[in-house]
Amino acid sequence: MILAGGFATRLRPLSCSKPKLLFPIVGTPLVEWMARWLSSGGVDQLILAVNHLSDRLKIEVGNRVAGLTVEYSVEETPLGTAGPIRLAANLLGKGDPFLVTNGDIVSDIDIRRMLAMHEEAKADATIALVSVPDPSPFGSVLTDSNGIVKKFEEKSASPSAMSHVNAGVYVLNPSVIDSIPDGAPVSLEKEVFPKLIRNGRMQAWMHDGFWYDIGSISEYVRANRELLQRQEPNAEAPEATDQNGGEILQPSYLGAGTRIGVGAKVGPLAILSNNVSVGDEAVVRNSIIFEETSIGDRTVIEDSVVGERVVIGKGSKIRRGSIIAGQLTIPGSSMVASNSVILC
Ligand code: GDD
Ligand code: MG
Repeated sequence: MILAGGFATRLRPLSCSKPKLLFPIVGTPLVEWMARWLSSGGVDQLILAVNHLSDRLKIEVGNRVAGLTVEYSVEETPLGTAGPIRLAANLLGKGDPFLVTNGDIVSDIDIRRMLAMHEEAKADATIALVSVPDPSPFGSVLTDSNGIVKKFEEKSASPSAMSHVNAGVYVLNPSVIDSIPDGAPVSLEKEVFPKLIRNGRMQAWMHDGFWYDIGSISEYVRANRELLQRQEPNAEAPEATDQNGGEILQPSYLGAGTRIGVGAKVGPLAILSNNVSVGDEAVVRNSIIFEETSIGDRTVIEDSVVGERVVIGKGSKIRRGSIIAGQLTIPGSSMVASNSVILC
């Protein structure tokens, strides 16, 4: 189950009309990244726990992604991180342990080994942990030398004594469902885990590969840049090469159907999703452009994020640190000052 019903407030205004799971990560929607990762760990069925913007997710994801079948469990009102598990009890509680993950994680956590550890430890729940420089925005976890979780503190103001944080990926036994009250919002982190630590057995799985929670704009941008740098340079989408009259400075990513005008300069660190058009002599560097956005001739964009289906008129300047929400039209010759946020 992917928990995908939050309001993504820290990604506003980009998330006003676009659910987090559809955010492009180096041009590929997050849901596809997650489905590929889950599939490589042996998962074959996905349940999306949704409420806010669920219609858009249903339309765009449908009932299959990266080889996994997709079912939707729709909350009428948000039920927190544990309530959705209770709501989908009939889909999850079939006797075997199941996997639950936050819907904003890009990682290569080894699910098979995590599951093997869960079984070996005879745990009720197993939680993946990661090390981060600053644990305060996360759930801090203290374990004993056998990896048994002794303490869990969500967004602790003084987490220094706690060594690792919750990566938002869990293996749960069906018995955990019974500990979640029905019909009300419940927090896994604040209510279910502390109870489990007192009355059951919660095991930690230490992950040492890559891990991002893309739930804030700064982390979303960092994930895109770092994952771009890990990839082979994409030899530009064929359509882009055909119509490419400009210069592409690597590392950069150009989605399918992207068009680069004559004399334009794209990159380094430009990430253009599908069907983006860059006008003649335009400059795009160190920026993320969502799908179907059009950048006018001679427009310059640097260190910014531009949502989907935005039209930026000719000769505009979008200065560093700006965020432009989806589906807006910016008139030609506009000057957008550094760190501006432009919403609908
Ligand atoms: N279905 C549903 N319903 N999903 C929800 C709801 C809800 O009411 N509320 C939140 N979610 C989903 C969000 O969409 C997200 O995918 C996930 O639950 C976690 O919520 P976030 O808002 O992203 O939490 P966080 O990032 O501050 O903290 C969580 O993740 C950290 C790791 O990234 C916690 O689990 C921390 O303990 C953890 O360290
Ligand atoms: Mg998050």
